[in-house]
Amino acid sequence: MDDARRDPANARLVEVTGAVVSALHQVARDHRLTELELRQALSFLTEVGTRNEFTLLSDVMGLSVLVDDLTHGADGPGTRHNVEGPAYRPGAPLLPSPAQLCGADEPGDVLVLQGTVRSAADRCPLPNAVLDVWQTSAHGTYEHEDPAQPDFNLRGRVQADGAGDYELRTIVPGPYRIARGGPVGRLLLALGRHDWRPAHIHVRVTAPEHAPLTTMLFIPGDPWLGSDAIDAVQAPLILEMAPCPEAERTTFSSRFDFELRPLGDAPARR
Ligand code: BEZ
Ligand code: FE
Repeated sequence: MDDARRDPANARLVEVTGAVVSALHQVARDHRLTELELRQALSFLTEVGTRNEFTLLSDVMGLSVLVDDLTHGADGPGTRHNVEGPAYRPGAPLLPSPAQLCGADEPGDVLVLQGTVRSAADRCPLPNAVLDVWQTSAHGTYEHEDPAQPDFNLRGRVQADGAGDYELRTIVPGPYRIARGGPVGRLLLALGRHDWRPAHIHVRVTAPEHAPLTTMLFIPGDPWLGSDAIDAVQAPLILEMAPCPEAERTTFSSRFDFELRPLGDAPARR
C-alpha cells in the first residue's frame, strides 16, 4: 500500500473519489455521453461555482437531506433531524418564554406554538433548553433578504423554562422559491421540476449534555408538502394546528415536543 492510502484521511478520499469516478464512467457508458453533452455539463458546473450554487445543487439533488439522514440516523431515538439550510443567522435575540418572534402588526395568521423539550433517553424534561428559531414571513421571505422587515424579524432564541416548557407567538410562514434566476433554477426548469419549498419553521434546540438538534416543522395543508424542492419533508415534522375561535385575528395553536439525544448516544459517523 502506498503512503497516500495508509493515511486514514487520504484512504477515505481515495475510496470515495474512486467510487464517484466509477459511477460517472458508468453513466457515460450506459447513456453514451457525447462530447457536446460533457462540455455542456462542465460549463453548467463552472457557472454553478461562479454563482456559489453548489450547496443549492446538492440540496435539489436530495444529497443534503440524504447525508443529513446518514449522519444523524433517521431511525434513531428522538426528534428527526433535518438540514439547516442557508438562512440561519447566529446571534438572534435571547427571549424568555413565552416569546414573541415578531411585532403585533406582522401580516399573516397568528401561530402560538408550545411544547416541552425532553431527553430522548428517559423522556425527562430538559430545563432551560434554548430553541433558536427562524422562519419566513407570510409572504415567504426571510428577513435578511427583505428590506421591508426589521433586523432579526421572525428570528429568536427562545429560552424554555425550568420545566423545559416553551411557548412562542409568531405568524404562519409562507412557502417560498429557492432557485430563481441561477443555473440550478434553469436546470430544475429543464427537468420539469419546480423550486418551491413548503412553508416551514427552522429550529435548532440545545440543552446541556445533549446533542444539538437542528430540524424544521412544516405547516399542514401547504400545497408543496408532497413535492418539496429539497425533499426534506417528514410526516412526524408536520405540525397539527387548531384554530382558536375566540381570538381577534385568525389564530392557530399547535403543540410540538422536542426530544434530544444524550451526548455519546449519537450515530457512529459524524
Ligand atoms: C431553506 O429552508 O431556507 C432552504 C433550504 C435549502 C435551499 C434553500 C433554502
Ligand atoms: Fe427555510
